[in-house]
Amino acid sequence: MKTTDACRRALCASLCIAAVAMSGCQKAPEAASIGDPTKVPPAAQKVLVVGTDAAYAPFESQNEKGEIVGFDIDLVRAVAQKAGLEVKFVNTPWEGIFNALAQGDRDLLVSSITITDERKQTLDFSDPYFDAHQLIAVKQNAKVTSFADLKSLKVGVQTGTTGDEVVSKLLGKNSTQVRRFESAPLAIKELESSGVDAVVIDNGVLVNYTANNPGSNLRVINDAAFQPERYGIAVRKGNAGLLAKINQGLADVRADGTYKRIYAGYFGKGPIDSTKK
Ligand code: ARG
Repeated sequence: MKTTDACRRALCASLCIAAVAMSGCQKAPEAASIGDPTKVPPAAQKVLVVGTDAAYAPFESQNEKGEIVGFDIDLVRAVAQKAGLEVKFVNTPWEGIFNALAQGDRDLLVSSITITDERKQTLDFSDPYFDAHQLIAVKQNAKVTSFADLKSLKVGVQTGTTGDEVVSKLLGKNSTQVRRFESAPLAIKELESSGVDAVVIDNGVLVNYTANNPGSNLRVINDAAFQPERYGIAVRKGNAGLLAKINQGLADVRADGTYKRIYAGYFGKGPIDSTKK
């Protein structure tokens, strides 16, 4: 722990120790917004709890150390820094993620969440921060070439996602051909073990998975039937103050090149090539 000169010069060592303990002699934390007296130093403000279903690489996942990492994480960290907010990420299963927000257990959500009219009825979204769409993955040797080809097949999805929605529309909500899983990796695992014939999941996740697991012999298929989707950061309905800060932070990271840098780190230069075999 570093102490200031004033502290070192203190006559009584024990006094200094006591002062350090009270953090009186501690140097101000790096993150204190120097030069902007209107911003409350992070230590004095509430740490916002960010919920994320960290089983959705490359957007949010857990590394070997159990740390939550990914594009969404880096982005929200950067946005929070611009907005003078302090955040901490808490792994939150998708199944309960919207409830956790509504009940106040989480202050915001970043989890590759597609902005939909239905969700907008119960929470508020930031400006969109990422373009996405659904994608199909099948075994390399499968005969599937289009979404319509899934009509007679067993299709895995993550419960309650937009992938679940489109597949439910094609096969019928109560069809036993729709196989719902708690997480995207579980659905993909089931495809690898031939428990399902296909999965329908967000493009970024499937492209990332197939690229990193060539041995799994999966093939991705795009289809014009898949609507454009956009991810947003979610806050409790009516939390306009927080939303405004997030939107400003998003605009700032876009304006100063931070967004581009983070994006390039995960996806390279161009948009995700979702049809690449
Ligand atoms: N974009 C899709 C949706 O909003 C899937 C998101 C799933 N996210 C996750 N971290 N599991 O429904």
